[in-house]
This record gives sequence, C-alpha cells and structure tokens, in this order.
Amino acid sequence: MRTIDWVDGAVELVDQTRLPDECVMLRIETVADLIDAIRRLAVRGAPALGVAGALGVVLAAGDQDAIARLRAARPTAVNLGWGVDQAAAHLSQGQQAVLKAALRIRDDDIAACEAMGKRGADLLEGDRLRIMTVCNTGGLAAVERGTALGVVQTLHERGRLAEVLALETRPLLQGARLTTWELARMGAPHRLIADSAGPYLLAKGGIDAVLIGADRIAANGDTANKIGSYALALGAERAGVPFIVVAPETTIDQATPSGEHIEIEDRGADEIVTIRGRRVAPEGTRAVNPAFDVTPHDLITAIVTDKRVIRP
Ligand code: MRU
Repeated sequence: MRTIDWVDGAVELVDQTRLPDECVMLRIETVADLIDAIRRLAVRGAPALGVAGALGVVLAAGDQDAIARLRAARPTAVNLGWGVDQAAAHLSQGQQAVLKAALRIRDDDIAACEAMGKRGADLLEGDRLRIMTVCNTGGLAAVERGTALGVVQTLHERGRLAEVLALETRPLLQGARLTTWELARMGAPHRLIADSAGPYLLAKGGIDAVLIGADRIAANGDTANKIGSYALALGAERAGVPFIVVAPETTIDQATPSGEHIEIEDRGADEIVTIRGRRVAPEGTRAVNPAFDVTPHDLITAIVTDKRVIRP
C-alpha cells in the first residue's frame, strides 16, 4: 500500500485522521482539497508532504496563486516547499513534464527510505535492540517505507529488534494512532508510553537508541521534529543513549543556518484543550501549541540520510 500516489489523474492518499479505526483512501482532484488535507493532517510527515506538494503542482495546472497557497499550507517541514518548487520548475515544459518530475520525487522517496533503513540498521550495534521513538516516521509519513521507523522495520526484518517504545505524541496522537498501527502490521514487538515517560524510561536504562525523523535540518545540524523530541534528546544525553535522526537529504535545508531560524508551526488552542473532539480543560482556557521543537546539533549523535551518516 502506498500512503500517497497519483492514480488516474488525481492524488490518492490514506486519510490518516481516520486511523486506526479505519483505513480509507481519499481521492483528491483539486489543490484546495489537497491544502485542506495537509492542514488537517490527513496527509502528514515530511517526506509525504514533499510528494503531496509536487503532485499538488500537477493539480494546480499552472495556477500560481494556488501553488503559493499549497507551498504555505504548513511551514515547518522543508519538504513541502521543496516538492512544490521541484515540480513547479517544470511548468514551462507543460503538464506532462510537471507530472514526470512529481512522480520522480515519489520514486526517489521510496528508494531513499529503503537506503536509510539499511544504513541506520548497519550503524546500530547489537542484536536485540530496544528503540524509543516519537511521532510517526513510518510508511504513513512517506510513500512506502519510513525514515526512523524504516530503520526499525529493517532491524525487525533482520531479527535484531527486541522492542519499540513509542511515545503517544500528544496532542494529535500520531504515536498512539499511527505508529502502533504500523508496528502491529509489521509484527514488531512494541509498547506505547505517555510522552512524559520518555526521559524517565531512558534514565532507568535498557534503551539502546532513540530514533526520530526530522521536518527540517538546519545547515548546522539543528533539527526540527515533532514536539517532545528535544525532551528525549536531553534524556538520552543524560542517560548516555545514542540519539539518532533519520531523514532524507531533502530534509536538510542549507538555506537555514541554525535552528533559531526555523519557523515552528503553532496549531492553536483547540488541539490542546480537547482530546479527539472532547473538551478536557475549562471553557476559556488559553493554550500554546507548538507542533515541533528544535533539538540542538550537539545533542544529536548522528544524522542518517539516504546518502551518508553525518555526525553533527
Ligand atoms: O505534524 P506531523 O505529523 O506532520 O509531524 C511529523 C513529524 O514530526 C515526523 O517526525 C517528521 O515529519 C519526520 S516523518 C518521516
């Protein structure tokens, strides 16, 4: 199953807002519907957003306003704007050239995830590994296989995975809803933990590595990823556990010198004062809701890409 693809003249994608209850495909024929799907996280995860951006340019059929709106649908993952720009660069050559470029981005992502899985699994030492991870970095965040969860998948296929501890990832529960769903489909042993349990469990010992994905890696290695990543990095540093970022080269943004320049999306109060549509805080409670945080490069043991291992 592909998370996102081009099928008979439209974008088809898994509606991730409905998982794990049901796995349904959305067929998207307009840029406006694609932007809506991106904003409400029906499609999400940096690599998948890159493919969505590129395929969206095909749907836009030369409408520059629509392309600009698509590019700005979510600000933090560099892949969205990158995918849009890559496809838009072919606009002067006609629709077929734009589609060809977008499909190349899809295919490159499939190959990159395969390569990251192998390189990450080769980097880690030991036979019965216990891995901690946050958010969802699996096939649902890309096209077929994922980034950090792609490494987990490769470890599992090689018989080297003892267990994954997955953070639930409040407020939208990508860990609880999506990562557990993917791990169950892989047949990989896993347990779900509350976000705040991460650093404590690292301190207790027995975790071999923290593996995370990335939404944007600045030129100096500072890495924006799902909120909670920074707390895990601090906990991992204190516990002496390797903290490894797994992301394609396309997530490295050489135009952004360091993490302080990365725009962090704030998704508003509703997601914090409610859980799956039900209010949990008193009426009128204000909230702050950064969807991502930045882990400084000195807390990162290694960045594994489809081409190399970087030690920031
Ligand atoms: O808000 P989301 O669900 O799009 O956030 C996704 C993440 O933070 C992922 O860790 C990141 O995009 C890397 S996905 C391979």
